[in-house]
Amino acid sequence: MARTALVTGGTRGIGAAISKALKAEGYNVAASYAGNDEAAAKFTEETGIATYKWNVADYDESKAGIEKVEAELGPIDIVVANAGITRDAPFHKMTPEQWHQVIDTNLTGVFNTVHPVWPGMRERKFGRVIVISSINGQKGQFAQVNYAATKAGDLGIVKSLAQEGARAGITANAICPGYIATEMVMAVPEKVREAIIGQIPAGRLGEPEEIARCVAFLASEDSQFINGSTISANGAQFFV
Ligand code: CAA
Repeated sequence: MARTALVTGGTRGIGAAISKALKAEGYNVAASYAGNDEAAAKFTEETGIATYKWNVADYDESKAGIEKVEAELGPIDIVVANAGITRDAPFHKMTPEQWHQVIDTNLTGVFNTVHPVWPGMRERKFGRVIVISSINGQKGQFAQVNYAATKAGDLGIVKSLAQEGARAGITANAICPGYIATEMVMAVPEKVREAIIGQIPAGRLGEPEEIARCVAFLASEDSQFINGSTISANGAQFFV
């Protein structure tokens, strides 16, 4: 029977490409989204992928949403914690609200997404936890003290989960995308974006599908011994 995969923030940007790639691999896919009903309906219409609405920053909502997915599609064996937001501002202008919004969604959201599925993965002795971090969690970024903190935190989460899950057949890995052609990156002022592209040796932004292919590999049975690792996919912009 096909395994079930959950992709948070799975209807737009990198998440949409991941949902589609996992469906193409034959998994039952659930894509969660926070607010954009129109985009989600369009996504389901175009792809046939089931969408579910909840706020990853809220533990109870996440748990209830995950229970609904499992009741409808089956136990979640693959979880892709992808949902994320930016609230960029130079540190001297960053408000506590901007700090907390990003921490709640990008970091606590990973806890809220993985924690409810973890006991089932332990029982079934199989699991794939894939967290979408960022190049900016590895190198830091001007105007992203909040975002970089969450993305660096993701790496701590997967390294710890990897050690806890290894004997139960569960792997936990992170992918650090560089600058990918999504709405999030297109929201960066054009002049700044052009300067960033100038720093990418590949000379271009990445494509969402290039990240989705990394996820498909990490989700597969073949990746069992890759655990606690970080895959950088950034066009040679930064090396760890
Ligand atoms: N490095 C150095 N200096 C920078 C800079 C950078 N990357 N970006 C901006 N600055 C400078 C500006 O040139 C400006 O300098 P001057 O005052 O000398 O002109 C100063 O910093 C900031 O100016 P402002 O006070 O006017 O800044 P602002 O309050 O209007 O904020 C900003 C502007 C939010 C920082 C905007 O420039 C911006 O969005 N920058 C991009 C930040 C970024 O890269 N975010 C990544 C988003 S994509 C993503 O997050 C996905 C992923 O995982 C990779």
